[in-house]
Amino acid sequence: MTRLPPIEVTVYPYECDAYGHLNEAAWLLLFERGRWEALARGPGADLFTRHGVWPAVRRATVEFHAAAFPGDVLAIDLRSEDVGRTSVTVIQRAVRASDGVLLAEVRLVFVMIDGEGRPVPVPEAVAGLFGARVTAHPRDARRFDLGEVSLAADVRGEGPALLLIHGFPLDRTLWAHQVAALAGWRRIAPDLRGLGASDVPGEGYEMAAYADDLVMLLDRLGVRRAVVAGLSMGGYVAFEMLRRHRDRIAGLILLDTRADADGPEARENRDDLAAVAQSEGARAVAERLLPRLVGRSTQQTQPHLVEQIREMMAQAPTAGIVGALLAMRDRPDATPLLGAIGLPTLVVVGQEDELTPPSLAREMAGAIPSAALRIIPGAGHLSPLEAPTAVTRVCAEFLEAVREDAA
Ligand code: MLT
Repeated sequence: MTRLPPIEVTVYPYECDAYGHLNEAAWLLLFERGRWEALARGPGADLFTRHGVWPAVRRATVEFHAAAFPGDVLAIDLRSEDVGRTSVTVIQRAVRASDGVLLAEVRLVFVMIDGEGRPVPVPEAVAGLFGARVTAHPRDARRFDLGEVSLAADVRGEGPALLLIHGFPLDRTLWAHQVAALAGWRRIAPDLRGLGASDVPGEGYEMAAYADDLVMLLDRLGVRRAVVAGLSMGGYVAFEMLRRHRDRIAGLILLDTRADADGPEARENRDDLAAVAQSEGARAVAERLLPRLVGRSTQQTQPHLVEQIREMMAQAPTAGIVGALLAMRDRPDATPLLGAIGLPTLVVVGQEDELTPPSLAREMAGAIPSAALRIIPGAGHLSPLEAPTAVTRVCAEFLEAVREDAA
């Protein structure tokens, strides 16, 4: 299955052989045109470069069923047959638009390669387009019993520790790309209590509880200090870690987040949304939040990703949603902390983030001595999923600069 639209192409005389048939080389080019055109009209012709890979054809098998002639209009569709770790197999079929006769089909095996031609894992967003979900592999999640709750977490790689804290109402798969790509670091991406695959206690949702859970998780993993990256609500949790466990933090990455507390209107909105969660469930919450969570460009060019984010939110347990809303409503103002952070800090924001816009990120970065600010073009509030390559790159640059301190 795939979400790419079918494409119509016209056969031109110069593509045909001496007998007026569409020639063999031209068939392959037409199929190729069909693929790129479908990408251009769907997720964007830069789908692969956006994710730092290139699809190299490793095998192409064409079956010719009937001749095509100049002037014929061919409808070319594309479906995926298999999505492997580094490969994608697709089938394209060309049907004459006037009578629906199947003229030819091609089966293609692509391997994703990097700039040096080495095979690399199929990025989740690409896999998602061909029918797979954006999610870390469930088998990668480990469970950690921390006493009061047990948390699920992806833990991958060796090196200094990087703790990745997701936003609301999401789960650890927000970081799927960064967990896959930030080699040289021990990437730790937990589901906060009440969300994802972690335990859903009936009560105990406060910023302090989220922060303490994560420090207990670091203890369980034998991690003394970690660079802490938090997106949005994950940033609020990072600020709380700063208040309560400053000695455990080696550096901060604050993505699409804010330091100030909720004002009266925002607090009222939290209560309203909690009531929606209780009466209508997670899917209704997802519908309300989605239009402002995801950037304009992503909504236009990555509809498959929007669907995956919708599903991620729709799976969130109601008690976890309500708990997180009340914890956010009651969180203290972190603005007074900013001037005294005293740790290497990177602030990242999607250029199209409506909830915590670049102006806010600029102000926050300005208040943190020597913090760097990176604005990610084409991304909204969920920048690690919307523009994964760019976010991974700015994080990797920052991490390299703090590696010595974090080790
Ligand atoms: C999030 O993404 O975590 C939320 O937008 C945070 C919030 O609602 O304040």
